[in-house]
Amino acid sequence: MERTLIAVKPDGVQRRLVGQIIQRFEQRGFKLVGLKMVQVSEDLLSQHYGQLRTKPFYPSLLHYMTSGPVVAMVWEGHNVVQTSRSMVGHTNPAEARAGTVRGDFSIHVSRNVVHASDSQEGAQREIQLWFQGKELLNWDCCDQSITC
Ligand code: TYD
Repeated sequence: MERTLIAVKPDGVQRRLVGQIIQRFEQRGFKLVGLKMVQVSEDLLSQHYGQLRTKPFYPSLLHYMTSGPVVAMVWEGHNVVQTSRSMVGHTNPAEARAGTVRGDFSIHVSRNVVHASDSQEGAQREIQLWFQGKELLNWDCCDQSITC
């Protein structure tokens, strides 16, 4: 089953948006299989955002992402990578549609609230980078009357 990494960035945590973001993924029908709050290291970020190392905004991106805790999650489900990218919205909130996380909660590209993996390969790489295998839990509904 497909999985993706979703991370509520420091501004999202500080603005108390964690619950609303989790709610959107739950109500869409995706399954939460990993969740933790972390103070991210520069080492992890340099691997996570390695392809952006030469960009002018890279130093301020590192500063922002280490400015407070991040809530990192792994979500599972059909087409979760593509669907969560469309739920999160365009990188630049000015171009993000209303109804997306960034379109509803942010106004500046450098404070865009949430991260979502952009491909299946990227998701696999990022999940391995952010989570140990034992932190990801396979679970099923034990009660047949609950829809899973
Ligand atoms: P990127 O991987 O291009 O976008 P996305 O997060 O939508 O996959 O960029 C990573 C992050 O870098 C982005 O979420 C916010 C930050 N960023 C800036 O601060 N300024 C910029 O001009 C861009 C393009 C990104």
